[in-house]
Amino acid sequence: MSTATLDRPTHPTTESMPKGSSRGKRSPDRSPGEDAASRSLPQQHAPALPDLSSQTLPGIDRIVLTGFMGSGKTSTGRLLAEHLGWRFLDLDHEIEARHERSVPQIFSEDGEAHFRHLESAALASLLGRRQVVIALGGGAPEELGNRLLLEQTPHTAVIYLSASFEVLVSRCAAQAADPSATARPNLADLNLAERRFHLRHPHYQRIATHSIDTAERTPGEVAEAILATLRSAAPAAGHQISR
Ligand code: S3P
Repeated sequence: MSTATLDRPTHPTTESMPKGSSRGKRSPDRSPGEDAASRSLPQQHAPALPDLSSQTLPGIDRIVLTGFMGSGKTSTGRLLAEHLGWRFLDLDHEIEARHERSVPQIFSEDGEAHFRHLESAALASLLGRRQVVIALGGGAPEELGNRLLLEQTPHTAVIYLSASFEVLVSRCAAQAADPSATARPNLADLNLAERRFHLRHPHYQRIATHSIDTAERTPGEVAEAILATLRSAAPAAGHQISR
């Protein structure tokens, strides 16, 4: 994503806008839902980040990225994982790999409620991993059980990637141009999507240990801001992160 896509909010008329183009391209040697943190990234995503693979974040076993569709969870998560030498895990990819169906297929064949059930099970499983960066789906924090799980999993930094609804929709529209991108069923109705955005915002804030405004930042800059925040706020090893 380039900064240019962030400045020009548009309201696309597409039926169901796709998710980032890199979705569904999991390396065959990885476990379900696991993405190659070392995959090459488009030039505009290349950040000037230090290689932190030899360093740790004291007291943090995993970083979870949350936020609405288009907030940059996947692209930022890959960069973070790469620079920490950790694994990148995408919750939607995990669900798709486990059930051998795409997210839009699950929505259309079994409905959103069933998708949320699968999502909760996959989340519980991924939160058992250490040294991972996990990108949630935008709707995961709607479920109380998921919020409690995130709040109660020790040594877990939860980062809310925020932006205005207009910026988020603009980014999703830009991603929709890529035919390999996965569709986002919950963007089919933009009025409903905006209502959900406002409903979800307090949940994102509540579960987050840290929030980063992504509106004027590239994924590389967001990753850099997250690392700087976590390193300056890192608690002593063994202490739980406070919210
Ligand atoms: C959804 C967000 C999507 C995906 C599904 C539902 C939502 O993930 O989980 O299409 O309800 O916000 P992204 O936020 O990664 O696009």
